[in-house]
Amino acid sequence: MKFIHLTDTHLIEGGGDLYGSNPNQRLRQAVAHFMVHQPDAEALVITGDLTHYGEADAYKQLREILSVVNKPVYLIPGNHDRRDVIKDYFPSIECDENGFIQYTKDFGDYLAIFLDTNEPGVSWGVFCEQRSTWLRKQLADSTKPVLLFMHHPFFPIGIHSMDAISLRETAPFLDAIKGFESRIQQVFFGHIHRPITGSYRKMPFFTLKGTNHQVALDLHAEADAGIPGRLEAPQYAIVCLSQEQILIHVEDYLDESPRFSLKG
Ligand SMILES: [Fe+2]
Repeated sequence: MKFIHLTDTHLIEGGGDLYGSNPNQRLRQAVAHFMVHQPDAEALVITGDLTHYGEADAYKQLREILSVVNKPVYLIPGNHDRRDVIKDYFPSIECDENGFIQYTKDFGDYLAIFLDTNEPGVSWGVFCEQRSTWLRKQLADSTKPVLLFMHHPFFPIGIHSMDAISLRETAPFLDAIKGFESRIQQVFFGHIHRPITGSYRKMPFFTLKGTNHQVALDLHAEADAGIPGRLEAPQYAIVCLSQEQILIHVEDYLDESPRFSLKG
């Protein structure tokens, strides 16, 4: 199975610019690009911050842009989103019994778990008792290897201003997945607006640039120095799943550098 992962689309009311870039246009360009270049992708995943201010018109734009995607689209909220407005514009989106936008899907041989870490009014991620119970049940009810999708990382990534707004309840989260860590074969997250990969407690993780604006790479600034922004080029990822492999390619879809043969 092949799917597309993109994140942090940050659409705004009226379709105008945000930080000197146009999120509506950037997302349209991403969709147009993968529809042409990855027509065999079977799903699209967007790991939160669908909109910047949670405005109704921004979700309306998202729905319109995604209407041309001829494959299932799986959304989760980020800290910039409004869960209630997402439900207004995507009424068929799946929620758990407590109203959180979280659900599971079979992705080939894997169980894809989509986790909601949004908490209204705050930038950091929240993992409450209800979400802990839900996540543990999903892990316990399956024997498949797991792909875990969430907006906020549950471990530090070294950019201190962003680490200050990662998932707040790290210990309860680690308790919830205790005993299942070896089945979590890839964690996908958003929030950071940078390409980062590695592993945490042997769980491989991956994230990438947003489709509009990025967080500048600064591993030295203090947490209270503010989040450094930068208009680096956007990305989406192409994820290929097989029993043996999780293969992730990153596409800089606006890159126009020349192509040439490397043969002498
Ligand atoms: Fe974001």
